[in-house]
Amino acid sequence: MNELNVVVDSAKVAFEKALTPADLENAKALFLGKSGRITELMKGLAALPVDEKKSRGAAINLAKQAIETALNNRRQALADAELQIQLQAEALDVTLPGRQRGQGGLHPVSITLERIEAIFGSMGFEVAQGPEIETDWFNFTALNTPEDHPARSMHDTFYVEGGSAAAPNLLRTHTSPMQIRHAVQHVKRHRADAEQAGEGLFSGSMPEIRVIAPGRTYRVDSDATHSPMFHQCEGLWVGENISFKDLKFVFTDFCRTFFESDDLVLRFRPSFFPFTEPSAEIDIQFQSGPLSGRWLEVAGSGQVHPNVIRNMGLDPEKYIGFAFGMGPDRLTMLRYGVNDLRLFFDGDIRFLSQFQ
Ligand code: DAH
Repeated sequence: MNELNVVVDSAKVAFEKALTPADLENAKALFLGKSGRITELMKGLAALPVDEKKSRGAAINLAKQAIETALNNRRQALADAELQIQLQAEALDVTLPGRQRGQGGLHPVSITLERIEAIFGSMGFEVAQGPEIETDWFNFTALNTPEDHPARSMHDTFYVEGGSAAAPNLLRTHTSPMQIRHAVQHVKRHRADAEQAGEGLFSGSMPEIRVIAPGRTYRVDSDATHSPMFHQCEGLWVGENISFKDLKFVFTDFCRTFFESDDLVLRFRPSFFPFTEPSAEIDIQFQSGPLSGRWLEVAGSGQVHPNVIRNMGLDPEKYIGFAFGMGPDRLTMLRYGVNDLRLFFDGDIRFLSQFQ
Protein backbone atom coordinates (compact mmCIF):
# COMPACT_ATOMS: atom_id res chain seq x y z
CA MET A 1 0.00 0.00 0.00
CA ASN A 2 1.43 3.36 -0.85
CA GLU A 3 2.19 5.93 1.77
CA LEU A 4 -0.72 8.23 0.86
CA ASN A 5 -3.23 5.41 1.23
CA VAL A 6 -1.83 4.70 4.68
CA VAL A 7 -2.38 8.35 5.64
CA VAL A 8 -5.95 8.31 4.31
CA ASP A 9 -6.75 5.08 6.16
CA SER A 10 -5.31 6.27 9.43
CA ALA A 11 -7.36 9.51 9.08
CA LYS A 12 -10.50 7.41 8.59
CA VAL A 13 -9.69 5.33 11.68
CA ALA A 14 -9.02 8.48 13.76
CA PHE A 15 -12.30 10.03 12.62
CA GLU A 16 -14.26 6.89 13.46
CA LYS A 17 -12.74 6.89 16.92
CA ALA A 18 -13.91 10.45 17.54
CA LEU A 19 -17.18 10.24 19.47
CA THR A 20 -17.90 13.95 19.81
CA PRO A 21 -17.56 16.95 17.44
CA ALA A 22 -14.68 18.24 19.61
CA ASP A 23 -12.79 14.92 19.28
CA LEU A 24 -13.37 15.08 15.56
CA GLU A 25 -11.92 18.58 15.28
CA ASN A 26 -8.81 17.40 17.12
CA ALA A 27 -8.47 14.45 14.79
CA LYS A 28 -8.90 16.73 11.79
CA ALA A 29 -6.02 18.92 12.99
CA LEU A 30 -3.72 15.89 12.93
CA PHE A 31 -4.23 15.54 9.19
CA LEU A 32 -5.42 18.82 7.73
CA GLY A 33 -4.16 21.29 10.37
CA LYS A 34 -1.21 23.64 10.01
CA SER A 35 1.25 20.97 10.91
CA GLY A 36 -0.97 18.07 9.98
CA ARG A 37 0.19 15.15 7.86
CA ILE A 38 -1.21 16.43 4.56
CA THR A 39 0.20 19.90 5.15
CA GLU A 40 3.59 18.37 5.87
CA LEU A 41 3.42 16.34 2.67
CA MET A 42 2.56 19.49 0.72
CA LYS A 43 5.57 21.22 2.16
CA GLY A 44 7.71 18.28 0.98
CA LEU A 45 6.72 19.06 -2.62
CA ALA A 46 9.03 22.04 -2.68
CA ALA A 47 12.08 19.80 -2.69
CA LEU A 48 10.96 17.73 -5.68
CA PRO A 49 11.91 18.25 -9.29
CA VAL A 50 9.23 19.96 -11.42
CA ASP A 51 7.94 16.91 -13.32
CA GLU A 52 7.55 14.82 -10.15
CA LYS A 53 5.99 17.76 -8.30
CA LYS A 54 2.95 17.71 -10.58
CA SER A 55 2.02 14.06 -10.22
CA ARG A 56 2.89 13.97 -6.54
CA GLY A 57 0.87 17.14 -5.93
CA ALA A 58 -2.14 15.64 -7.70
CA ALA A 59 -1.83 12.46 -5.62
CA ILE A 60 -1.63 14.41 -2.36
CA ASN A 61 -4.66 16.42 -3.39
CA LEU A 62 -6.62 13.22 -4.00
CA ALA A 63 -5.61 11.99 -0.58
CA LYS A 64 -6.63 15.31 0.95
CA GLN A 65 -10.03 15.14 -0.75
CA ALA A 66 -10.53 11.59 0.49
CA ILE A 67 -9.74 12.73 4.03
CA GLU A 68 -12.11 15.70 3.75
CA THR A 69 -14.86 13.43 2.49
CA ALA A 70 -14.26 11.06 5.41
CA LEU A 71 -14.30 14.04 7.77
CA ASN A 72 -17.61 15.36 6.41
CA ASN A 73 -19.19 11.93 6.56
CA ARG A 74 -18.14 11.57 10.17
CA ARG A 75 -19.40 15.07 11.04
CA GLN A 76 -22.76 14.22 9.54
CA ALA A 77 -22.88 10.90 11.38
CA LEU A 78 -22.14 12.57 14.72
CA ALA A 79 -24.77 15.26 14.09
CA ASP A 80 -27.32 12.59 13.17
CA ALA A 81 -26.53 10.64 16.32
CA GLU A 82 -26.88 13.74 18.45
CA LEU A 83 -30.23 14.54 16.86
CA GLN A 84 -31.42 11.01 17.51
CA ILE A 85 -30.50 11.29 21.17
CA GLN A 86 -32.30 14.60 21.44
CA LEU A 87 -35.40 13.30 19.70
CA GLN A 88 -35.50 10.32 21.99
CA ALA A 89 -35.19 12.51 25.05
CA GLU A 90 -38.02 14.69 23.88
CA ALA A 91 -40.19 11.90 22.63
CA LEU A 92 -43.84 12.02 23.68
CA ASP A 93 -45.50 8.83 24.74
CA VAL A 94 -48.88 9.41 23.17
CA THR A 95 -50.23 6.28 24.85
CA LEU A 96 -49.97 7.86 28.33
CA PRO A 97 -53.29 9.07 29.71
CA GLY A 98 -53.68 12.84 29.51
CA ARG A 99 -53.11 15.00 32.56
CA GLN A 100 -56.67 16.02 33.29
CA ARG A 101 -57.72 19.08 35.15
CA GLY A 102 -60.02 18.19 38.05
CA GLN A 103 -63.48 19.48 37.31
CA GLY A 104 -65.68 20.65 40.15
CA GLY A 105 -69.37 20.01 40.42
CA LEU A 106 -72.36 20.81 42.52
CA HIS A 107 -72.93 19.19 45.88
CA PRO A 108 -75.90 16.78 45.73
CA VAL A 109 -77.84 18.92 48.20
CA SER A 110 -77.16 21.99 46.05
CA ILE A 111 -78.49 20.05 43.06
CA THR A 112 -81.66 19.39 45.07
CA LEU A 113 -81.95 23.04 46.13
CA GLU A 114 -81.62 24.19 42.53
CA ARG A 115 -84.26 21.70 41.54
CA ILE A 116 -86.63 22.88 44.28
CA GLU A 117 -86.11 26.50 43.22
CA ALA A 118 -86.75 25.67 39.57
CA ILE A 119 -89.95 23.75 40.30
CA PHE A 120 -91.42 26.34 42.68
CA GLY A 121 -90.15 29.11 40.40
CA SER A 122 -92.26 27.61 37.62
CA MET A 123 -95.27 27.94 39.95
CA GLY A 124 -94.60 31.63 40.51
CA PHE A 125 -92.76 31.43 43.84
CA GLU A 126 -90.02 33.93 44.65
CA VAL A 127 -86.83 32.71 46.31
CA ALA A 128 -85.76 34.54 49.49
CA GLN A 129 -82.55 34.25 51.49
CA GLY A 130 -82.17 35.12 55.15
CA PRO A 131 -79.66 35.14 57.99
CA GLU A 132 -78.46 31.96 59.68
CA ILE A 133 -77.90 33.84 62.92
CA GLU A 134 -81.39 34.76 64.05
CA THR A 135 -82.99 36.56 66.91
CA ASP A 136 -85.18 34.77 69.39
CA TRP A 137 -88.09 36.86 68.10
CA PHE A 138 -87.98 35.69 64.48
CA ASN A 139 -87.02 32.10 65.28
CA PHE A 140 -89.64 31.53 67.99
CA THR A 141 -91.77 34.31 69.38
CA ALA A 142 -93.06 35.76 66.13
CA LEU A 143 -93.93 32.22 65.09
CA ASN A 144 -96.36 31.92 67.95
CA THR A 145 -93.84 30.06 70.09
CA PRO A 146 -93.44 32.21 73.20
CA GLU A 147 -90.81 31.60 75.85
CA ASP A 148 -91.64 28.51 77.93
CA HIS A 149 -93.59 26.98 75.05
CA PRO A 150 -92.84 23.24 75.09
CA ALA A 151 -92.27 23.25 71.31
CA ARG A 152 -89.03 25.14 71.92
CA SER A 153 -87.47 22.09 73.57
CA MET A 154 -87.54 20.26 70.22
CA HIS A 155 -85.43 23.07 68.81
CA ASP A 156 -82.37 22.90 71.07
CA THR A 157 -79.81 25.01 69.29
CA PHE A 158 -76.57 26.98 69.54
CA TYR A 159 -76.74 30.38 71.13
CA VAL A 160 -74.25 32.97 69.94
CA GLU A 161 -72.97 36.20 71.38
CA GLY A 162 -74.94 39.34 70.79
CA GLY A 163 -78.52 40.19 71.48
CA SER A 164 -79.80 40.53 75.02
CA ALA A 165 -80.54 38.06 77.79
CA ALA A 166 -84.22 38.51 77.07
CA ALA A 167 -83.72 38.18 73.31
CA PRO A 168 -80.58 36.16 72.62
CA ASN A 169 -79.14 35.52 69.18
CA LEU A 170 -79.07 31.93 68.01
CA LEU A 171 -78.41 29.77 64.98
CA ARG A 172 -81.82 29.40 63.37
CA THR A 173 -83.41 26.02 64.01
CA HIS A 174 -85.62 26.19 60.94
CA THR A 175 -86.27 28.39 57.91
CA SER A 176 -89.68 29.43 59.28
CA PRO A 177 -88.35 32.82 60.52
CA MET A 178 -88.16 33.70 56.82
CA GLN A 179 -91.97 33.63 56.74
CA ILE A 180 -92.00 36.66 59.01
CA ARG A 181 -88.96 38.42 57.55
CA HIS A 182 -90.15 38.11 53.98
CA ALA A 183 -93.79 38.94 54.73
CA VAL A 184 -92.87 42.05 56.75
CA GLN A 185 -90.77 43.33 53.84
CA HIS A 186 -93.49 42.48 51.36
CA VAL A 187 -96.15 44.29 53.40
CA LYS A 188 -93.89 47.31 53.92
CA ARG A 189 -93.20 47.56 50.22
CA HIS A 190 -96.86 47.41 49.25
CA ARG A 191 -98.55 49.26 52.09
CA ALA A 192 -96.50 52.34 51.26
CA ASP A 193 -98.42 52.54 47.96
CA ALA A 194 -101.76 51.74 49.52
CA GLU A 195 -104.21 54.13 51.13
CA GLN A 196 -103.88 52.66 54.58
CA ALA A 197 -100.24 53.55 54.96
CA GLY A 198 -99.43 53.89 58.61
CA GLU A 199 -99.67 51.89 61.79
CA GLY A 200 -101.82 48.88 62.56
CA LEU A 201 -102.48 45.70 60.66
CA PHE A 202 -102.72 45.96 56.93
CA SER A 203 -106.05 45.09 55.37
CA GLY A 204 -105.67 46.89 52.08
CA SER A 205 -104.93 45.03 48.89
CA MET A 206 -101.54 43.82 47.89
CA PRO A 207 -100.12 41.12 45.62
CA GLU A 208 -100.04 37.67 47.19
CA ILE A 209 -97.01 36.55 49.13
CA ARG A 210 -95.69 33.49 47.35
CA VAL A 211 -92.18 32.57 48.37
CA ILE A 212 -89.79 29.77 49.20
CA ALA A 213 -86.77 30.25 51.45
CA PRO A 214 -84.10 27.56 51.24
CA GLY A 215 -81.04 27.57 53.49
CA ARG A 216 -78.95 26.10 56.28
CA THR A 217 -80.43 25.42 59.70
CA TYR A 218 -78.97 24.15 62.98
CA ARG A 219 -79.93 21.93 65.89
CA VAL A 220 -78.14 19.94 68.58
CA ASP A 221 -78.69 16.62 66.85
CA SER A 222 -76.41 14.03 65.29
CA ASP A 223 -77.05 10.52 63.99
CA ALA A 224 -77.53 8.73 60.64
CA THR A 225 -80.54 10.87 59.77
CA HIS A 226 -79.71 14.07 61.68
CA SER A 227 -76.81 16.46 61.35
CA PRO A 228 -76.19 19.54 63.55
CA MET A 229 -76.18 21.54 60.33
CA PHE A 230 -78.85 20.62 57.84
CA HIS A 231 -80.99 22.27 55.19
CA GLN A 232 -84.59 23.30 55.09
CA CYS A 233 -86.77 24.94 52.56
CA GLU A 234 -89.68 27.03 53.72
CA GLY A 235 -92.71 27.74 51.60
CA LEU A 236 -95.34 30.41 52.14
CA TRP A 237 -98.37 31.44 50.15
CA VAL A 238 -100.59 34.11 51.68
CA GLY A 239 -103.41 35.97 50.00
CA GLU A 240 -107.07 36.64 50.45
CA ASN A 241 -108.32 33.23 49.51
CA ILE A 242 -105.54 30.67 49.82
CA SER A 243 -106.71 27.43 51.38
CA PHE A 244 -105.55 23.98 52.33
CA LYS A 245 -106.62 22.67 48.94
CA ASP A 246 -104.02 24.97 47.34
CA LEU A 247 -101.40 23.53 49.68
CA LYS A 248 -102.39 20.01 48.66
CA PHE A 249 -102.29 20.85 44.98
CA VAL A 250 -98.99 22.74 45.10
CA PHE A 251 -97.17 20.22 47.24
CA THR A 252 -98.44 17.21 45.31
CA ASP A 253 -97.38 18.82 42.05
CA PHE A 254 -93.98 19.63 43.52
CA CYS A 255 -93.33 16.08 44.80
CA ARG A 256 -94.42 14.43 41.56
CA THR A 257 -92.18 16.74 39.55
CA PHE A 258 -89.25 16.46 41.93
CA PHE A 259 -89.28 12.66 41.98
CA GLU A 260 -90.40 12.39 38.33
CA SER A 261 -93.18 10.06 39.37
CA ASP A 262 -96.75 10.84 38.29
CA ASP A 263 -98.35 8.19 40.47
CA LEU A 264 -96.71 9.35 43.72
CA VAL A 265 -99.32 9.51 46.52
CA LEU A 266 -99.36 12.12 49.31
CA ARG A 267 -100.88 11.86 52.76
CA PHE A 268 -101.56 14.83 55.02
CA ARG A 269 -101.34 13.51 58.58
CA PRO A 270 -102.72 15.74 61.39
CA SER A 271 -99.95 17.16 63.53
CA PHE A 272 -99.05 20.18 65.62
CA PHE A 273 -96.90 23.22 64.96
CA PRO A 274 -97.34 26.44 66.93
CA PHE A 275 -97.29 28.55 63.77
CA THR A 276 -100.00 26.71 61.85
CA GLU A 277 -103.56 25.70 62.60
CA PRO A 278 -104.54 23.17 61.45
CA SER A 279 -101.17 21.50 60.93
CA ALA A 280 -100.16 18.41 59.00
CA GLU A 281 -97.11 16.29 58.33
CA ILE A 282 -96.81 15.44 54.67
CA ASP A 283 -95.92 11.84 53.84
CA ILE A 284 -95.24 10.49 50.38
CA GLN A 285 -95.60 6.99 49.01
CA PHE A 286 -93.88 5.71 45.87
CA GLN A 287 -95.85 3.19 43.83
CA SER A 288 -92.76 1.54 42.35
CA GLY A 289 -89.03 1.30 42.91
CA PRO A 290 -87.11 0.20 46.01
CA LEU A 291 -89.15 2.37 48.41
CA SER A 292 -92.49 1.30 46.93
CA GLY A 293 -95.38 1.18 49.41
CA ARG A 294 -93.59 2.80 52.38
CA TRP A 295 -94.82 6.10 53.80
CA LEU A 296 -91.99 8.62 54.08
CA GLU A 297 -92.30 11.93 55.88
CA VAL A 298 -91.02 14.85 53.81
CA ALA A 299 -92.46 18.07 55.29
CA GLY A 300 -94.45 19.84 57.96
CA SER A 301 -97.22 22.15 56.85
CA GLY A 302 -100.41 23.89 57.74
CA GLN A 303 -102.62 26.91 57.50
CA VAL A 304 -100.73 29.92 58.82
CA HIS A 305 -101.85 30.72 62.38
CA PRO A 306 -103.69 34.07 62.77
CA ASN A 307 -101.10 35.20 65.33
CA VAL A 308 -98.37 34.67 62.75
CA ILE A 309 -100.37 36.55 60.11
CA ARG A 310 -100.64 39.35 62.67
CA ASN A 311 -96.87 39.33 63.27
CA MET A 312 -96.41 39.73 59.52
CA GLY A 313 -98.30 43.01 59.87
CA LEU A 314 -101.39 41.65 58.15
CA ASP A 315 -105.00 41.56 59.26
CA PRO A 316 -105.89 37.89 59.82
CA GLU A 317 -109.54 38.68 59.08
CA LYS A 318 -108.50 39.42 55.53
CA TYR A 319 -105.36 37.41 54.88
CA ILE A 320 -104.99 33.67 55.02
CA GLY A 321 -102.60 31.14 53.58
CA PHE A 322 -100.47 28.07 54.02
CA ALA A 323 -96.88 27.31 54.87
CA PHE A 324 -94.67 24.28 54.70
CA GLY A 325 -91.15 23.36 55.68
CA MET A 326 -89.28 20.49 54.08
CA GLY A 327 -85.86 18.91 54.34
CA PRO A 328 -83.82 19.04 51.13
CA ASP A 329 -81.25 16.65 52.68
CA ARG A 330 -83.98 14.08 53.16
CA LEU A 331 -85.25 14.61 49.62
CA THR A 332 -81.72 14.09 48.32
CA MET A 333 -81.37 10.84 50.29
CA LEU A 334 -84.68 9.56 48.90
CA ARG A 335 -83.94 10.61 45.34
CA TYR A 336 -80.50 8.97 45.24
CA GLY A 337 -81.05 6.10 47.72
CA VAL A 338 -78.46 7.32 50.24
CA ASN A 339 -79.00 5.92 53.73
CA ASP A 340 -76.65 8.00 55.87
CA LEU A 341 -77.09 11.77 55.94
CA ARG A 342 -73.59 12.32 57.33
CA LEU A 343 -72.06 11.20 54.00
CA PHE A 344 -73.25 14.48 52.50
CA PHE A 345 -71.20 16.52 54.94
CA ASP A 346 -68.00 14.46 55.29
CA GLY A 347 -66.56 16.06 52.16
CA ASP A 348 -65.32 12.75 50.69
CA ILE A 349 -64.79 13.48 47.02
CA ARG A 350 -65.25 9.80 46.09
CA PHE A 351 -68.80 9.96 47.41
CA LEU A 352 -69.63 13.43 46.15
CA SER A 353 -68.30 12.93 42.61
CA GLN A 354 -70.89 10.22 41.99
CA PHE A 355 -73.61 12.84 41.67
CA GLN A 356 -72.04 14.72 38.74
N1 DAH B 1 -90.36 24.67 60.94
C1 DAH B 1 -90.82 23.32 61.14
C2 DAH B 1 -89.69 22.48 61.67
O1 DAH B 1 -88.56 22.81 61.50
C3 DAH B 1 -91.32 22.76 59.86
C4 DAH B 1 -92.59 23.38 59.44
C5 DAH B 1 -93.78 22.85 59.81
C6 DAH B 1 -92.60 24.53 58.68
C7 DAH B 1 -94.97 23.41 59.46
C8 DAH B 1 -93.79 25.12 58.30
C9 DAH B 1 -94.98 24.54 58.69
O2 DAH B 1 -93.83 26.20 57.55
O3 DAH B 1 -96.14 25.09 58.30
O4 DAH B 1 -89.93 21.46 62.24
